[in-house]
Formats: sequence, C-alpha cells, structure tokens
Amino acid sequence: MSSRPPGMPLVAANWKMNPTNIDDALDLVRGILSVARGHADRVEVSIFPPFPWLLAVSEVLVESGVKLGAQDCFWEMSGAYTGEVSPAMLKDLCQWVIVGHSERRLYLGETDDMVAKKTAAGLSCGLGVIMCVGELADHYDAGTSDQVVSAQVKAGLASCSADDSARLVIAYEPVWAIGTGKSADPEHAYKTMRLIRRIVGEMIGAGAARKVRILYGGSVNAANVQSYVELPYCDGCLVGGASLDAAEFAHIVKVTAEVYGHR
Ligand code: 13P
Repeated sequence: MSSRPPGMPLVAANWKMNPTNIDDALDLVRGILSVARGHADRVEVSIFPPFPWLLAVSEVLVESGVKLGAQDCFWEMSGAYTGEVSPAMLKDLCQWVIVGHSERRLYLGETDDMVAKKTAAGLSCGLGVIMCVGELADHYDAGTSDQVVSAQVKAGLASCSADDSARLVIAYEPVWAIGTGKSADPEHAYKTMRLIRRIVGEMIGAGAARKVRILYGGSVNAANVQSYVELPYCDGCLVGGASLDAAEFAHIVKVTAEVYGHR
C-alpha cells in the first residue's frame, strides 16, 4: 500500500491571535496570495485568520484558489453559547476549520471529548476539519508520545467514518515544538505520522485512511520544511509563526510544490 493519499499536499497558515489590526491582516494575505496562487495547481494552501478578519480575508481570496479556514468552532449549531461560533456560521465563508489545537487544549481546557464533538460538527456541515494532536515535552521525554497521540486520535475520531476521509486532516504538532524554534527530529515526526495513519486505518478502514491527509506542525520554516514534506507519511504542514511573514510562508509553499512535483 502506498503511503501517499490521492489529494494534493496541504500547507496551512495558522495566524493564531495575529495580526491585531485589519490593515496588517489584509497586507499579509495579499503578500501570501501573490506567490501562493502560482502553485495552486500543486499545493492546496489554506489561511486561518482570527474570526474578526475572516470576512475581509475571504474577499481578497475570491477566485484565487487559496482556501480559508477558522481556527476553531463549537459543536452545537446555534443557541445560548455566549462567545462561541458554530460550524453552520462558518460553512458559507470557509472551507476548513481547525479543532483541538494544543493551545486550546492547554489554555482553555479542551478535552478529547470536546475535540471529537467539534470534529463531528465541522464535518457534518461540510467543512474540512484539521484535527490537531501532539504530545507534551514530558511525554516525549518519558518516551510515551505514541500512547498519547494514539489516544488523542482514537478519541477525536470516535464518530468519524470512511465517508469523512477526503475532508479529514490530522495535524501532528508535538507541543514542545510549537513556537519554540525546536522543530521535531524528522525521524520522530515520520514514525508518529506513520502511527497516525495506521490508527486511522484501524478506525475507518485502510482504503479510506489513505485519503486522510496528515500534516506536521511545530516550528516549520523555510529552512526546515523540506525535511518534513519529503517524509513518506507527510502530506503537508501546519505553519504558525512563519505564516505571519508572507515571504517566508511563500517559500514554504514553493518548497512543498517542488517536493511533491518530484514524487
Ligand atoms: P509554530 O509554527 O509557530 O511553531 O506553530 C505551529 C502551530 O501551532 C500551528 O498550528
């Protein structure tokens, strides 16, 4: 069985809680677009701005081939949930949503059960879902990364089926590599992504699991991206800090296009 899913590689820009004003957000998306649109036939690029910038960024992206996503969603579609945004509200604006990012697990107490409900809700609305998993530094040091990541994948996909596979992405982001400049050893990333593919196969069937894309995230930059996207089980990357610099992010997209163009 080939480890390569039929879809294009995905390079996702998670802006997190940046930039703090709309003018900078629009400058950034225009800068990314000027280069990314040239690679749209080989790499799927998606941008994840903060909620307040989604509408304005969507207007810049019209007919560019570059996709838009939200950084989170709630699991109910409407109701008395102050501050929450539902996937039903996002589905006409966005193609993607990120769920279970480690920063939400750490700072907002998101549990595997909440992540599973968000994953199912996003998929039920027709959105593509990037579900994030990854171990803490303590797990990595204790050699328990596999157990932690396996449990997160199993819990998060609890109600997913083979029908969801083409719209499902799992981002492996070791927490100790996020925003630290300490990117994971590609060998560790490779073994973990291979494990994720195996678990997804056990859950939804090996054929469907081949369509699920797996990304690496954690201090990805223009200098190290090749060492990840060339790994057999890696279908792209989820980029944080480096996606706030249009030139750097554009370089990440270009390298990914080149690597996949040679496969
Ligand atoms: P950095 O690229 O800043 O390490 O962030 C990774 C990340 O959390 C993307 O979701």
